[in-house]
Amino acid sequence: MTAPSQQEILRRLETIRHPEKGKSVVELGMVSGIVIRGSNVGFALEVDPDRAAELEPLRRACEEAVRAMPGVTSCTVVMTAERAPGGRPAQGPPPSLGRPQQAEPAKPLVPGVRAIVAVASGKGGVGKSTTAINLAFGMARLGWRVGILDADIYGPSIPRMAGASGRPSAPRGGKLRPMESFGVKCMSMGFLVDEDAPMIWRGPMVQSALQQMLGDVDWGELDTLVVDLPPGTGDAQLTMAQRVPLTGAVIVSTPQDIALLDARKAINMFRKVDVPILGVVENMSYFCCPNCGHRSEIFAHGGARDCAEKYGVDFLAEIPLDPVIRETSDAGRPIVVSAPESPQAQAYLQFAMTVRDKVGTLLGGEARSFPRIVYL
Ligand SMILES: Nc1ncnc2c1ncn2[C@@H]1O[C@H](COP(=O)(O)OP(=O)(O)OP(=O)(O)O)[C@@H](O)[C@H]1O
Ligand SMILES: [Mg+2]
Repeated sequence: MTAPSQQEILRRLETIRHPEKGKSVVELGMVSGIVIRGSNVGFALEVDPDRAAELEPLRRACEEAVRAMPGVTSCTVVMTAERAPGGRPAQGPPPSLGRPQQAEPAKPLVPGVRAIVAVASGKGGVGKSTTAINLAFGMARLGWRVGILDADIYGPSIPRMAGASGRPSAPRGGKLRPMESFGVKCMSMGFLVDEDAPMIWRGPMVQSALQQMLGDVDWGELDTLVVDLPPGTGDAQLTMAQRVPLTGAVIVSTPQDIALLDARKAINMFRKVDVPILGVVENMSYFCCPNCGHRSEIFAHGGARDCAEKYGVDFLAEIPLDPVIRETSDAGRPIVVSAPESPQAQAYLQFAMTVRDKVGTLLGGEARSFPRIVYL
């Protein structure tokens, strides 16, 4: 069955009325950016940012109406700040930002998921995604049920690193089914939009997309959901930290001072919102020459360990700078699954074990069996 056209989608949305204004979302000019890819539809609903939480039922109604159309298997509607007259985005902070005292209480967004672990760094390009994917696949190798959520809306890299492609399916009216790779459930904006499509979303849209990727995805029962955060300490990180009941955060840094400065910012951000820091990982810690085995400490090895000590957080692992780590993760076969016996994979597996034990302790149960279900 072919997907409906934009006109047909708009006609359908004409039946959805704003709860107070009495007019349809189409008449009010709230619908924008309709994207139709195969049987997957997405669009933005422009709302007053102060009213985003109250208008959540309206967003859902739009989503359900379009999802019920013949030829549509999934529909994702994100809320975005309505444009002020003149076509510029409305000013003012997005809903949950800058006003933590008004933040909604944490909800059990993903009830079957026992722990959510964020992998973060202040600085870009330090190897968060590589660390996150090897952590997730490593924990799965240790016998846990694991998912990975790519929270990097603007530059998703998990589909490529997990070697997963295609579109997640959604049974009619149901939640989106995550993709799966090496037994790990994977969700990313990269599965929903084309790799080359420029992402020009504004703050509230990003928040909404993240919450949907958590709450509207059928994660099933997971021991841990690893979340690969985008670099920095901006909107997406704050949203995760404030709105998602994170069990803990892993901070990735390279050993140089410049990266460590940003790692400190990330530690402080999670501390401010009371998210436990599981510890710091030093990525690209040292280099072993593949020919002669000589170890060189290119970026002054050990800086992350000192930083962890100074900030009173645990030091979790040293991961070497090694071309095979790059080649395997960039090729969609991370080293923990493609060469699990290699010393590089062993470094990741040791790290995964440490994180697993820490998560187990935080949840107050046995690391492996979780006798107590903790709803997050
Ligand atoms: N330990 C390592 N050894 C060799 N290459 C690595 C290592 N860690 C990461 N890389 C490579 O460095 C590049 C950047 O890594 P990655 O994408 O994981 O960083 P990131 O922090 O997630 O970046 P961004 O901030 O853009 O999200 C990738 O090509 C990756 O393969
Ligand atoms: Mg990344």
